[in-house]
Amino acid sequence: MVHWTAEEKAAITSVWQKVNLDQDGREALSRLLVVYPWTQRYFSSFGNLSNPTAIYGNAKVQAHGKKVLTAVGNAIQHLDNMKTTLSNLSEIHAQKLYVDPENFKRFGEVLVIVLAAKLGSAFTPKIQGTWEKFIAVLVDGLSQGYN
Ligand code: HEM
Repeated sequence: MVHWTAEEKAAITSVWQKVNLDQDGREALSRLLVVYPWTQRYFSSFGNLSNPTAIYGNAKVQAHGKKVLTAVGNAIQHLDNMKTTLSNLSEIHAQKLYVDPENFKRFGEVLVIVLAAKLGSAFTPKIQGTWEKFIAVLVDGLSQGYN
């Protein structure tokens, strides 16, 4: 089981308190779709994703970005129990959506960049380190249904 120190928990939750689910969710999912265009194939029902302006303005991208960050927030509320918390979501991505789990890593990288851009120097190397650990555990939890 993953162990979190009180300091690590504080680093994760204090950053998360500053997150705006609508804005930052849209930013993270939009960036994923722009930076890694092949991820667009999973969202063929979302309509026009042909360029960054279309992606950022796409209401389905916005709504889905919020949904994804809400799930991240839920995982943060269950840090000591993340694997169980993420098992259903993992199965949906593995068995219904057929999402290549490499994409979870990519989304995690994008999310760290969004947080860094938002927080600037407050996103210290120490806090980044804790977030890299959190993202690794998140990716692990989401990948469990592929075994
Ligand atoms: C759906 C979370 C990463 C593709 C969902 C849903 C949640 C979610 C909560 C809704 C599930 C439901 O209907 O019950 C997450 C989290 C991620 C993540 C927490 C990573 C931190 C990804 C990635 C991709 C992806 C990287 C593809 C590149 C999809 C698709 C759907 C979905 C295609 C269905 C969308 C729809 O048609 O409404 N995800 N997801 N997810 N996810 Fe993810």
